[in-house]
Amino acid sequence: MFYLWKRSQVPIKQPSRISKIDNLIIFLVCILISIISSYKKLLISPLTISDIFSWLLTFTEVFISSGILILVSKKENPTISSRQIILITTLLLAVQASKLAFASTISPLSMVIPPALIISQGMGSITALTWVSIASLNWPDQEIIVDNNLFFILLVCASVVSLLGGRIRNRAQLLQLSIFVPIGAFLSQWILIGKDKISLIDKQEFVFAGGNIFSVSFLLAIVMLFTILVIPIFESIFGLLTKARLLELADKEKPLIRRLSLEAPGTFEHTLLICGLAEEATRMIGGDIDLVKTGALYHDVGKLHAPNWFIENQDGSKNPHDEIDDPFKSAEVLQAHVDEGLKYARKNRLPKPIANFIPEHQGTLKMGYFFQKAREKNLKINENDFRYKGPVPQSKETAILMLADGCEAALRAMNINASDNEALETISRIIYSRHKDGQLDDSNLSKGEIFLIKRAFLNVWKRIRHRRIQYPISKNNTFS
Ligand SMILES: [Fe+2]
Ligand SMILES: [Fe+2]
Repeated sequence: MFYLWKRSQVPIKQPSRISKIDNLIIFLVCILISIISSYKKLLISPLTISDIFSWLLTFTEVFISSGILILVSKKENPTISSRQIILITTLLLAVQASKLAFASTISPLSMVIPPALIISQGMGSITALTWVSIASLNWPDQEIIVDNNLFFILLVCASVVSLLGGRIRNRAQLLQLSIFVPIGAFLSQWILIGKDKISLIDKQEFVFAGGNIFSVSFLLAIVMLFTILVIPIFESIFGLLTKARLLELADKEKPLIRRLSLEAPGTFEHTLLICGLAEEATRMIGGDIDLVKTGALYHDVGKLHAPNWFIENQDGSKNPHDEIDDPFKSAEVLQAHVDEGLKYARKNRLPKPIANFIPEHQGTLKMGYFFQKAREKNLKINENDFRYKGPVPQSKETAILMLADGCEAALRAMNINASDNEALETISRIIYSRHKDGQLDDSNLSKGEIFLIKRAFLNVWKRIRHRRIQYPISKNNTFS
């Protein structure tokens, strides 16, 4: 039983550190949310004990809900930063405050759905759904009674936005969402609430429409479109990593990637092949393909600090490692590609989940070649001097990248006449050595997933082999 329990537990990941000041700010925001959501219960005169008790209950309920929201967001995004937690809680605070100020004039749809879109884009669907349920269930003003049908429509629309928002891959789809959700809201209100609430040209109530369902849906569309406009600002202020941002970063015209292709063409080629391997493997296990593709693209940017020290860029010229003939110095140069990579990441403001690929793809691997050389020279050595500083991969995606990085050179060097079994054997040997070395311990990869990763790498190898086969071209055959 104990064994099964242990197997079922997710490995402990390094939680992102939150400073005391940030913790205090988050705590105060949660207290404020609870006060705003419950203080109206104390304004009744005469105040009875049961009123105070009911206030205390609401206060505690909202406070605990805010805590649960923070826990869920941390569970969904283990590397969530304090800024992002502050964003989620502040949005909740803003909604509760705007309910107090505008609940009688602005439809709840326009207040709850747009923040849900921001949260689902930046922090994922589960966090957004939790946020929506808290924001929809707590109404600070008891006097405002939300129509049951409207409440139902609000929940459905907000859930749809939360679920789709987490998956949407580009801004065009976001635009479609911000048009179709208001149309859906309009139609469902028409069916459930009534046709008599439509007046297309009601000048006074066009924006502040208490019950006019056309105006309500129109306002929702405007607010959603505005939200899409400001999402990039949220991305840079709060370090949000939306799918659209990931795809933008994966653009090969980005200056850092352009530099890699010009100054370290060998590393660039290696990077492209790894992208293919990692993408296929991530697809097989159902991981985040866009994250792994972008992470793979930047994993070795640190090699830009000294491209010719890495074998793939030497192109037959002298190997500087042979010239210095000092295994310790060589090991330092190898470690530097991680340290410098992190510096490039900081300078280019790469989001943290992408920057994590830089140290984690090397984990604490041994620099076997230089370690062996040092041994041959009978130098006094400590094995840790010849290991990367880590950490070992903390997610499935970074672990896949490490495995792809290990297999890439071996697969590239393999004879094109090699059989599938030989290729699979090579892949398995490399993956097993990483596994035995403890590099996959924190990655949460299961045995079944490792099996699928091997299969995926084999499929890519088959593609590479296919590409390298030269087709006989006859002189008359000019078509393809
Ligand atoms: Fe590397
Ligand atoms: Fe690499």
